[in-house]
Amino acid sequence: MTAPDPGGPDARDRDGDARARKVTTRSLTTMKTRGERITALTAYDFLLAELLDQAGIDVILVGDSAGMVVQGLDTTVSVTMDQMVYHATVVARGVERALVVADLPFMAYQVNADEALRNSGRMIQTAGVEAVKLEGGERIAPTIRRIVDVGIPVMGHLGLTPQSIHKFGTYQVRATTAEEAQELRRDARALQDAGCFALVVEKVPAALAREVSQSLTIPVIGIGAGAGCDGQILVTADMLGLYTRFHPRFVRRYGELGRAIADSVSRYAADVRSGEFPSAQESY
Ligand code: KIV
Repeated sequence: MTAPDPGGPDARDRDGDARARKVTTRSLTTMKTRGERITALTAYDFLLAELLDQAGIDVILVGDSAGMVVQGLDTTVSVTMDQMVYHATVVARGVERALVVADLPFMAYQVNADEALRNSGRMIQTAGVEAVKLEGGERIAPTIRRIVDVGIPVMGHLGLTPQSIHKFGTYQVRATTAEEAQELRRDARALQDAGCFALVVEKVPAALAREVSQSLTIPVIGIGAGAGCDGQILVTADMLGLYTRFHPRFVRRYGELGRAIADSVSRYAADVRSGEFPSAQESY
């Protein structure tokens, strides 16, 4: 008997319950083929990862945006491999269905392919994630090929690549000139050819992102890249209104949890100060 294919279309149809099925790199390709949009969000801890997974998010990214959101830094560049392994470990523990992808932080893959491979392996073996993400195009393609060749799925990241912030000096929209747009097309093709199973494309013109999505067979997941991508990702703390230091135009706020938390904490503090909490029922 043939073993059931966890990501195959037949398995999904049999149950008619897409949400219950484990998401794999392969099922993302199937989703693209079917024109089903992929949902992705970031998480850095067990609690949020479990909530996102239970809500049916397809891809949970342990992003190095943890540097800004969790550590309060201005950029992602000083996030370390040890910190990412910690975040990835606790996220993976909370997820059953979603595909868990972890960022390789700055300098974890740029020095040479051996180091990149070792760090990718650490993410898979120690942290228990299912894929790694790294930034860059054609130049990083040989490294990606090396990682993919040993069986580790790689997600690429083009457009605004936050680990290169000091090179560009700005978080402005990328690939706005014809030359840069052509470079992005070339990079996207090189990453697909190197074996990436998907790409994140960040903060580029919507028309270009649509064109790149249509020209590739692998899914393109956009952030600030318009509606023509095969899926969308946001930093969860941004879309929930938890991280409010800045509000990029591409972020839609689906909650105001920062305000809700501040309100709950103020009420708790007031009740403690007034002696209202704890009550007799809340005591032994
Ligand atoms: O680090 C991160 O959260 C990311 C997303 C913005 C795609 O790379």
